[in-house]
Amino acid sequence: MNTQFLCYMVIILLRTGLMDVGVTQIPKNLVTKKGENVTFKCDPIKGQTWVYWYQQLLEKEITFLISFQSGTAVDDSGMHKPRFSANYSQNSLYVLSIQPTEPGDSGVYFCASSS
Ligand SMILES: *[C@@H]1O[C@H](CO)[C@@H](O)[C@H](O)[C@H]1NC(C)=O
Ligand SMILES: *[C@@H]1O[C@H](CO)[C@@H](O)[C@H](O)[C@H]1NC(C)=O
Repeated sequence: MNTQFLCYMVIILLRTGLMDVGVTQIPKNLVTKKGENVTFKCDPIKGQTWVYWYQQLLEKEITFLISFQSGTAVDDSGMHKPRFSANYSQNSLYVLSIQPTEPGDSGVYFCASSS
């Protein structure tokens, strides 16, 4: 791989929410190119109705993106970029999409749930 190619990669890592062992995120990590669309899925702990997405850009703090209660978006005050969207789908998975990705999106995306 040459340097220019590396510059256009977006590396996205997903981790289970720190406080919520049992949340499943799919995929666990993802390397993509600038301009691709990506979708992350989160399967919260059974019975927990609140679901949160957080973003931690490289070398930055964790910031809040959006929260849901029972599938309905409650607070989307962290979704500043129109490229980002999130929703809840019928198969009980919460979905976060970036359409399209930019190099500045590289970081860790966390899903957490609570009751
Ligand atoms: C990304 O999604 C947008 C909106 O759905 C679509 O118009 C575009 O063609 C997609 N791009 C890629 C690279 O799949
Ligand atoms: C939820 O997001 C997914 C992925 O972007 C999309 O395919 C689906 O159409 C969206 N559903 C709704 C109801 O917005």
